[in-house]
Amino acid sequence: MNESHNIDQLNERWNGLTALEILEKAIELFGNKVTFASSLGAEDQVITYMLSGLDKNLSIFTLDTGRVFPETYDLLHRTVNRYGLNIKSYCPDTVQVEDMVNTKGINLFYESIENRKFCCQVRKIFPLQRALKGNEAWVTGLRREQSVTRTDLRIVEWDAVNKLIKINPLLEWSEVQVWDYIKTNNIPYNKLHDQGFPSIGCQPCTRAIEKGEDLRAGRWWWEMPDNKECGLHGGKKTH
Ligand code: ADX
Ligand code: SF4
Repeated sequence: MNESHNIDQLNERWNGLTALEILEKAIELFGNKVTFASSLGAEDQVITYMLSGLDKNLSIFTLDTGRVFPETYDLLHRTVNRYGLNIKSYCPDTVQVEDMVNTKGINLFYESIENRKFCCQVRKIFPLQRALKGNEAWVTGLRREQSVTRTDLRIVEWDAVNKLIKINPLLEWSEVQVWDYIKTNNIPYNKLHDQGFPSIGCQPCTRAIEKGEDLRAGRWWWEMPDNKECGLHGGKKTH
């Protein structure tokens, strides 16, 4: 599979399918060359639940930055036990982390956008590249209404940075839909969601939001909304 694969055609074919059907099609088309990136967020838990009913051997990975909340590790443990899945953790390179924190400080990300992006690169992007290696497609829990940076997304994207197809089965889901689904199916979720954290990333870069605030207002809250991507989803290009 490469860039010439017709993204438009896939979007046309999969448009109007349910999230579960999209996942079925993805498995049918890409077999063991599709992997799912889970941050253990609410959307990801929905997808994990769906996948557990489709194929327990499907590749699922999580990027363990070393800075996530204890509640997130707890959820990882509960999810693996509940569904009998093998969620593979990818960790940053020890030497890169040591160099970074020893030269720029342990909390370098508050000092500049450049530092913040560097930390995301070391702790997330490089491990992501390792996780995606050998795959032709990856599934994410992105939703359109999450952010101004996500309004133009399609169900199937060409990830030009990582050179593979990206599939967003929950793209059109609303937050209410996600939570109805979680409650109806008794899906385990991060306890922080009940404490004002709708979107959860690393602990030092995530805080609770006030009522009425944007869903991702608590992520990198000191930065402007247009900067608020860590680079995992930087390769958006549809053709
Ligand atoms: S982020 O780019 O701001 O961190 P967000 O938390 O909204 O992303 O998550 C969007 C999607 O990116 C998730 O549904 C998941 O597919 C993927 N993702 C984000 N963080 C991780 C992570 N730590 N490990 C694996 N996948 C992740
Ligand atoms: Fe580093 Fe914060 Fe990015 Fe996590 S979210 S990798 S702590 S800058």
